[in-house]
Amino acid sequence: MLRFGILGLGEGRSTMSATLNSTKIKLVQVCDRNLELCKQRAKEFDFHHYTTEYEEMLANPEVDAVGIYTPDKLHATHIKMAMEAGKHVVCTKPLLDDLSDAVEIIEIQKRTGMKLFVGQSSRFFEPMKRQREDFQKGLIGDLITVEAYYHADHRWFLNKPWALENQFKWLYGGLSHPVDFIRWYLPEIEEVMGYGMLSSNGHKGGLKNADTMHFIFKAVDGRLARISGAYSGPIQPVVRDSEMSCILRGTEGCSQGDYMDLRYAVTTKDGEEQLITWEKKMKHYFRFEGKSHHAGEYNNYLEHFADSIAEGFTAYPDLQEGLGTIALLKTMERALDSGKPEKVQDTIDQFGLTQYLDK
Ligand SMILES: NC(=O)c1ccc[n+]([C@@H]2O[C@H](COP(=O)([O-])OP(=O)(O)OC[C@H]3O[C@@H](n4cnc5c(N)ncnc54)[C@H](O)[C@@H]3O)[C@@H](O)[C@H]2O)c1
Repeated sequence: MLRFGILGLGEGRSTMSATLNSTKIKLVQVCDRNLELCKQRAKEFDFHHYTTEYEEMLANPEVDAVGIYTPDKLHATHIKMAMEAGKHVVCTKPLLDDLSDAVEIIEIQKRTGMKLFVGQSSRFFEPMKRQREDFQKGLIGDLITVEAYYHADHRWFLNKPWALENQFKWLYGGLSHPVDFIRWYLPEIEEVMGYGMLSSNGHKGGLKNADTMHFIFKAVDGRLARISGAYSGPIQPVVRDSEMSCILRGTEGCSQGDYMDLRYAVTTKDGEEQLITWEKKMKHYFRFEGKSHHAGEYNNYLEHFADSIAEGFTAYPDLQEGLGTIALLKTMERALDSGKPEKVQDTIDQFGLTQYLDK
């Protein structure tokens, strides 16, 4: 069993539930600098091995790997500390919110040999897993284009102090999900253009950066993709549409995975249309009040990571793939700043990543 420690017990609550319900992972210790939250989680899960000091968890020889669930801007520091302490790393999305530390992290990984896996949860939800399987089986033929979006009324998120800091950007926090879908199917995006704005709701709530964004992408082979995100207003009814969705248009068919709704639809090359839902898996995915946390996908991805350690294969997105996604997000940020199309290669060169990420 992979012996695990968890840093950050907000969203880390899902990770606690996932690890405590896994036969492949043993939860050894959890950490949050907020003592009251440690006590609350200890009571909730009847799991009492907590500390408020990250260093203490990293010094624990019983911990093989740590899961990082701290605010976005702290991921780089917490990843570096974990690898230096000889721990494998699972880091939640977004892997980073900047690329300044990327080269250093790659070099630390090379020196220490520690594995890093991005907890890109949306890939591990039932509809998205099924969409991937069908695509790989050739059910929709060759891919023509990808459309993905993540729209959510995240005004509640503005109660977290770090959400109102200058450094917090929905570009990384929200769009890392649909951007990951794009790169899952079209890894070699060359150029991006887009617009973003801060809505009046977001401005009123104290946000500093864009909360409403639309982008178009061009891959090296000329194929196109698009994504959008909006985070400070009501969303369309979920019976009509999903908060987060990925549409694949192929030469022979078309498929759509709806993230939180456990719903998937496909038009196959035989002209059949199927709508698939997973009522029986609701209890696996949603374990807490409402749909506030969705621990089942964490179960799925953490066990995949545990298997990768036990069996010696690479669990994706790994560090390189994850940094490729952050390089794309950074290029999108450059496009918002310049108001012009921007090239991913320029971002890669700017941050000294050419030898690491360049094909
Ligand atoms: N679907 C998903 O994969 C998903 C969903 C939600 C959040 N997240 C990610 O999880 C991360 C955390 O988000 P959240 O909503 O839980 O935020 P949060 O503010 O609720 O929780 C972060 C916790 O980290 C703790 N913390 C901060 N610095 C620390 C330190 N140095 N040592 C110990 N503890 C420290 C804080 O006390 C806090 O409890 C973000 O990066 C977010 O993007 C991922």
